[in-house]
Amino acid sequence: MKGLILSGGKGTRLRPITYTSAKQLVPVANKPILYYAIECIRNAGIHEIGIIVGDTQEEIRSAVGDGSMWGVNVTYIPQSAPLGLAHAVMTAEEYLGDDSFVMYLGDNIVKDGITPLVKDFSKHTPNAQILLAHVRNPQEFGVAELDGDRIVHLVEKPSEPKTDLALVGVYMFDKRIFEAVHAITPSARGEYEITDAIQYLIDHGYEVKSHVIDGWWKDTGKLDDMLEANRIILDTLSYRMDGIADASSILNGKVDIGKGSRILRSEVRGPVIIGENCVIEDAYIGPFTSIHDDVRILHSEIEHSIVLSHSSIINIEQRISDSLIGRNVEVRKEERRPHVYRFMLGDNSQVSIS
Ligand code: DAU
Repeated sequence: MKGLILSGGKGTRLRPITYTSAKQLVPVANKPILYYAIECIRNAGIHEIGIIVGDTQEEIRSAVGDGSMWGVNVTYIPQSAPLGLAHAVMTAEEYLGDDSFVMYLGDNIVKDGITPLVKDFSKHTPNAQILLAHVRNPQEFGVAELDGDRIVHLVEKPSEPKTDLALVGVYMFDKRIFEAVHAITPSARGEYEITDAIQYLIDHGYEVKSHVIDGWWKDTGKLDDMLEANRIILDTLSYRMDGIADASSILNGKVDIGKGSRILRSEVRGPVIIGENCVIEDAYIGPFTSIHDDVRILHSEIEHSIVLSHSSIINIEQRISDSLIGRNVEVRKEERRPHVYRFMLGDNSQVSIS
């Protein structure tokens, strides 16, 4: 059995971060989302993994390498353009050959892993088996209708969903899926939809089973989802102190502080992760915050946020919350007059002041 991770696409909902970085490499709890996908597949016993890549392939190749970091073999499969999930399967046809495979969307996190799904599929060998979960907003996902544990109908992001069962972004297929992806035509939004390919399997008498999970999972395509994923993963941390904190600093709860980081006259209230070589001075770092390497937070307060590497937050009087701050960003209050807001923001940036 092989793994196929989809890591192409454009990431428009996370701009401007995704102008300079693949969305699958944005870190959650200081670890790129894509790494969770690789670990999940490896933990299910699969060691041959193909990664579909697009415009951001150089960055993904340098972050993942040959897979030896996880004890797996990674093969990169360039997709000509992000023409849909079924197009990605067509692109990977030669790599996958006659093997069954698990397809995993590279911006998804499934907290409890996919081992039960892979086992179930290997035991009963249907033609396809799809991971589903009950959600409150099914219109934002592919939605399934079931008869027992068989899927009988699938619709991509319906305006009036018939059920609350969403496709989670993990799919098991045997080689019949190639017949299906070649038979379908692009949808109204111009993509070769995997939901249409699965519907083809159903309509042609192939067995398509469901596997419903009740554990937590997230499609991290948007800021709020990213912050939620960060919250859930940070909650699983344990205490680790590889940096230094002075006597007047307070560290509370689950905090994970990397090598070379210094906490001075500050309070850190977990769950919080702070990477390497950071300086936190006269500051408050509140729950559910991930701070990547080489960040400086001076005379400021922040909580429920993600800060990427080499950024600084200096002298900000009001607490920062619910934010995703990119790399090499500087947020600073100056003492000089006039007191104005001065911005230099990339396209599609968002500033919210209240
Ligand atoms: O998250 C679950 C949802 O994922 C499912 O419920 C939907 O049925 C499914 O279509 C998908 O919807 P999204 O709108 O979230 O898909 P997105 O365009 O974000 O693509 C998912 C991943 O696949 C992302 O990591 C980018 C990658 N991708 C996407 C396309 C369209 C590719 O590698 N190639 C592509 O052509």
